[in-house]
Amino acid sequence: MMSTTSMHGMWSSRLAFIFAATGSAVGLGNIWRFPYTAGESGGGAFVLLYLLCVAAIGVPIMIAEVMLGRRGRQSPINTMRALAVRQGAHPAWQLLGWMGILAGLLILSFYSVIAGWTLAYVFRAGSGQFAGIDGPGSEAIFSALTADPERLLAWHSIFMALVVMIVARGVASGLELAARVLMPALFVLLVIMVIYAAQAGDFGAGLGYLFTPDFDALSAHAGDALLNAMGQAFFSLSLGMGAIMIYGSYLSSQASIGTNVAIIAGIDTLVALLAGLAIFPIVFANGLEPSEGPSLIFLTLPVAFGQMPFGALFGVLFFLLLAFAAWTSAISLLEPVVAYLVENKGFSRVRASLLAGVAVWLLGIACLLSLNEWSGFTLFEMGILDLFDYLTANVLLPLGGILIAVFAGWILDEEVSRTELGASNGAWFYPLWRGLIRWVAPLCVILVFLNAIGLI
Ligand code: TRP
Repeated sequence: MMSTTSMHGMWSSRLAFIFAATGSAVGLGNIWRFPYTAGESGGGAFVLLYLLCVAAIGVPIMIAEVMLGRRGRQSPINTMRALAVRQGAHPAWQLLGWMGILAGLLILSFYSVIAGWTLAYVFRAGSGQFAGIDGPGSEAIFSALTADPERLLAWHSIFMALVVMIVARGVASGLELAARVLMPALFVLLVIMVIYAAQAGDFGAGLGYLFTPDFDALSAHAGDALLNAMGQAFFSLSLGMGAIMIYGSYLSSQASIGTNVAIIAGIDTLVALLAGLAIFPIVFANGLEPSEGPSLIFLTLPVAFGQMPFGALFGVLFFLLLAFAAWTSAISLLEPVVAYLVENKGFSRVRASLLAGVAVWLLGIACLLSLNEWSGFTLFEMGILDLFDYLTANVLLPLGGILIAVFAGWILDEEVSRTELGASNGAWFYPLWRGLIRWVAPLCVILVFLNAIGLI
C-alpha cells in the first residue's frame, strides 16, 4: 500500500495545486522564451507547431507526470524506483529522476540570470530611463546591463536567495499567497499591454506574424524550428524533469487529474499567446527584429513603456510581476532535488535548499560570465547560457518526456492509471489519453529528434 500523503506536506486544496502548478508553468518561459523562440523560428508556422506539441505531447505527458507523482508521493528519483520495483520493472527507472535533477539545476542556473535581468529592469523602468527611447536606445540600456558581470551577479544572487528562502520553508506553505494574488495581477497587466500594443503598435503585422503559418519562413529561419517548438512546449509546461511530478505528489487522491491539467495547460498557453500579442506589434512598429534572440522582450517592452501613459508605473509593475512569475517557477525547479536530499540524505529542508541553491548559484555565474568575460567561449556556436537553454529544453526535457510516457503507458498497470485518472466517469477520456501516451507522444518526440539531426 502506498502512502496517501507526502512527508514534505500536501496542498491545502485542489485550488492550491492549480495555483502552484500554474505558478510553475507560467514564467519566463511564456513571456521571455516563447516570443524570442517564435521570432527566431519565423512566427506563424512555429506557433502552430507549438500548439500541436502542447496538445499531442504536452498535455498527455503532464497528466502522466502528475499521476506518477501522486502514486509515488516521493521525490521523482524515489517515486520512479518505487513504482518500477512494484511493477517488477528494473529499478534503473530512477535514472529518470536523476536526469530531471540535472536538467533542473541547469535550467535554474540560467533562469535565475534572466530573472535577474527582470529585477534590474524594475529599477530601469522606475527611474524613468525608458521615457521616449527608441530601438537603439533600448539596445544601449540592455547591453550596458549584460556587459556588467557585477550587476548580473548581484541580481542573480538576490533571485537565488529568494528561491532558496521559499523552498527551505516548504513549497506547500511558502507559495500559495504569491500564486493566488500575483499571478492574476500579472495576467491583468499582460492584457493591458496587449490592448496598448493593439492601438499603438502595428497590431495587424503582429497578428499576421503569429497566426499566419508560413512554412517557407520556418525552414528559412532555423533548421530545427520543429525541435524548438517541441522544446518550448516542454519548457513552458514545466515537463520532463519531475517538477510537475513532485507537485503531483502533494495532490490529494480525490482531485481529478485530467481537469486540473486541462486548466493549467490552457492558462499557460493563453499567457504565452498574450505575450506574443503584446510584443510583436511593438517589434514591427519600431523597426526591431523578431529574430533578436533572448534579448527580445528586454529591447521591445521598454520602448512601449517609454511611450505609453503611466509607462514608468506600468513598467515597474510588469517587470516586478514577471519576476514573481519567475520566482514561482524557479521554486519548482529546485523542489525535486531538495526532496531527494531530505528523503535519502536525512538533510533538513533548510540545509538541502541551501546546498542545491549554492550549486545552482555557481552554475549561474558561468552563465552570466558567458554574456561578457567569457563570450569568446562557445560550443556549437552557443555561449554557456544559450547552450544550457538549448540542451535542457530541446534534449533533456523531451528525453525525460519519452521515459515518462513509456513508463506511464507501457510499464504501469492499466488498472493503476485507470483508477488514478478516474476513468469510470469519463469513458472517452481514458482511451484517448492512453493512445496519446503509448503511441503519439513517444513517437512524435522520436520523429522530431530524427528530424532535427537530419535523418528524416
Ligand atoms: N515552465 C516555467 C516557465 O515557463 C519554467 C519551469 C519551471 C520549468 N519548472 C520547470 C521548465 C521544469 C522545465 C521543467 O517559465
